[in-house]
Amino acid sequence: MANPSLLILPGDGIGPEVMAEVRRVIDWFGANKGLTFDVSEDLVGGASYDKHGTPLTDAAMAKAQEVDAVLLGAVGGPKYDDLDFSVKPERGLLRLRKEMDLFSNLRPAQCFDALADFSSLKHDIVAGLDIMIVRELTSGVYFGEPRGIHKEGNERVGINTQRYTESEIARVSRSAFELARKRSNKVCSMEKANVMESGVLWRDVVQEIHDAEYPDVELSHMYADNGAMQLVRAPKQFDVIVTDNLFGDILSDCAAMLTGSLGMLPSASLGLPMANGRPKALYEPVHGSAPDITGQGKANPIACILSFAMALRYSFDEGDNADLLEGAVQQVLADGARTADLMGPEGGTPISTTEMGDAILAALDAA
Ligand code: NAD
Ligand code: IPM
Ligand code: MN
Repeated sequence: MANPSLLILPGDGIGPEVMAEVRRVIDWFGANKGLTFDVSEDLVGGASYDKHGTPLTDAAMAKAQEVDAVLLGAVGGPKYDDLDFSVKPERGLLRLRKEMDLFSNLRPAQCFDALADFSSLKHDIVAGLDIMIVRELTSGVYFGEPRGIHKEGNERVGINTQRYTESEIARVSRSAFELARKRSNKVCSMEKANVMESGVLWRDVVQEIHDAEYPDVELSHMYADNGAMQLVRAPKQFDVIVTDNLFGDILSDCAAMLTGSLGMLPSASLGLPMANGRPKALYEPVHGSAPDITGQGKANPIACILSFAMALRYSFDEGDNADLLEGAVQQVLADGARTADLMGPEGGTPISTTEMGDAILAALDAA
């Protein structure tokens, strides 16, 4: 049987720095576990704009559609801030999500024991935390029409449209209920049904899908602003959270800090099954290109490495190898390996991106 295929899109800023460590991890699995991938690489974001004048070429898009999974680093940076919207680095990522129809974005927030003191919240509030945010990723205000900046009289008006169809809400809620059944069987759906019609529809459809297909799962509803507050007040009350594109973006950055650092959070963006039964899939860290630390060897590669672990689990049915990799990350953190973003109040000497990669490979060797 042919090797499974991976397309790597390192992107901008710290994207290539953290992806270099992922490539070493991929090579380790090839050399030690007989898990060999056909790996190809292409450009996305500002890197693609610089070379081709577009944040994603049609050829790269076509490759992403063909492979078994895509791994992406990060896109964007101040250099591109003034570009027209149509060619901004972020458009490359949004095009991948939309055209691959990656409607279900899984953003786990897990607090590793060794980091429970590094969160900005108190130890007991985050220790043992393990929640999963399921963010709708291909619709809502990110893609709704009309949009744009228009002139009305003598002033400009900025317009974006929040729009959800029943079927878009139904499919992402099914994905949340399915996940909940494999976890603690609990889903909390977040919207603003008190002020938005799209929120009313969201609440109704999630409830209907629940009642018809997943009555065994415990379902609750919460306004998203209260949800943000509850996430920092008592995050362990949640198991799976399902929410729309924009609320999911914000709530997942909020959840990131519960784990100690944005540099820890992986994600999987999943679509419909392909002909080979695997879901269309893109894996990427939740963080961005971190222009403030680019080129300094300070980036934490763990979010990107854990994103590859999610690929092993969700695309390649390699749950044991995913456990092995997650275990290696847990081990190095327990041993005290810390990149600069993981320096607690007591300080210490941080290790570099590459040294964190070295430590994880050594832990894999030792496992
Ligand atoms: P960011 O996530 O890049 O950085 C926020 C803060 O977290 C910075 O202080 C950064 O140094 C720190 N940080 C992020 N990742 C880290 C890591 N792995 N290790 C250590 N520290 C880390 O968010 P931003 O500054 O708001 O955005 C910068 C650019 O990235 C923008 O152009 C934005 O559009 C883009 N962005 C891209 C993605 C993506 O590609 N998926 C996600 C978010 C933001
Ligand atoms: C994320 C990012 C993206 C988003 C940007 C870069 C398009 O913030 O993946 O969380 O807003 O979805
Ligand atoms: Mn974001």
